[in-house]
Amino acid sequence: MTNTFAKDILKGLTAKHKYISSKYFYDDNGSRIFQEIMNMPDYYPTNAEFEILSMQSKQIVEALKFSGPFNIIELGAGDGFKTFKLLEYLVNNNVDFYYVPIDISQEAIDILTQQLKVKLPSLKIKPKVGDYFEILKGNRESDRQSLLLFLGGNIGNYQENEAKELLELFHKNMKVGDKLLTGFDLKKNPIIIQNAYFDKHGITKRFNLNLLIRINRELDADFKIDDFDFYSHYNPITGDVKSYIVSLRKQVVQLKAINETISFDYDELIWTELSKKYALEEIRDLAHNANFNENGNFLDCKHYFTDSLWEKR
Ligand code: TRP
Repeated sequence: MTNTFAKDILKGLTAKHKYISSKYFYDDNGSRIFQEIMNMPDYYPTNAEFEILSMQSKQIVEALKFSGPFNIIELGAGDGFKTFKLLEYLVNNNVDFYYVPIDISQEAIDILTQQLKVKLPSLKIKPKVGDYFEILKGNRESDRQSLLLFLGGNIGNYQENEAKELLELFHKNMKVGDKLLTGFDLKKNPIIIQNAYFDKHGITKRFNLNLLIRINRELDADFKIDDFDFYSHYNPITGDVKSYIVSLRKQVVQLKAINETISFDYDELIWTELSKKYALEEIRDLAHNANFNENGNFLDCKHYFTDSLWEKR
């Protein structure tokens, strides 16, 4: 079996506690449903970070304390919707910098580049398609200082040890004095988080069940979508939001493309995502343990979210 999707799905569905990696949410259909999630009034993270970059770009740029021209390298740029406010501020203030958006999707990068050429014609942009770490390797040889952007609360989708590894990799590919701006969703009143991740309109449910539709299509499987439900739970002590697909019956599913059969018990779960919420003290510890100095936290007015600025030491 050469296909990684097939391998990963089989590994996850044959584990003792079944799981599917959240990176598989984002096929074309899933990306569209995620846009719907971002438009829900109860899904606050996108709006909160947009507010931060709209209102505090000046403060963020001042905190960089870069002395000459620099690079802004965005990891997983996507549609670049939030970053636009930061770029706009810099361009309007004649700051000398290159914007280097990196994304795994050629299509996302093409659309982003196209839009920025229209909206910010004087922006200097060097888009890159591919794996961040391959592309980041060149950063250490650059004679410019760099600001790495890892926005959107992406970090929250990594388990503790994975988040540490990821930060180590960033650190390894940065020069002393380079900065990292990371988005963290903050711990808050649990009901607000619950409503953002377990919505009453069933959009998040559709987003999760789309994983099964994708497996049906790509692995010629026969998941009966109506025989599965969605459940999500926030633990306010650990800060973990965990999302699951629930089997509503004892049932057997065929993955015909790879000749495999998966059995589900009544009420058996498939874990689909972790979205960890942080306290400011936890963010500080994470920074220090990964050998960064914290240069400041930029919060939205409701204190739901922070963009945390770190410096490699
Ligand atoms: N990665 C996003 C997040 O953590 C995706 C997401 C939003 C999500 N709502 C969800 C994933 C519900 C699973 C279930 O915010």
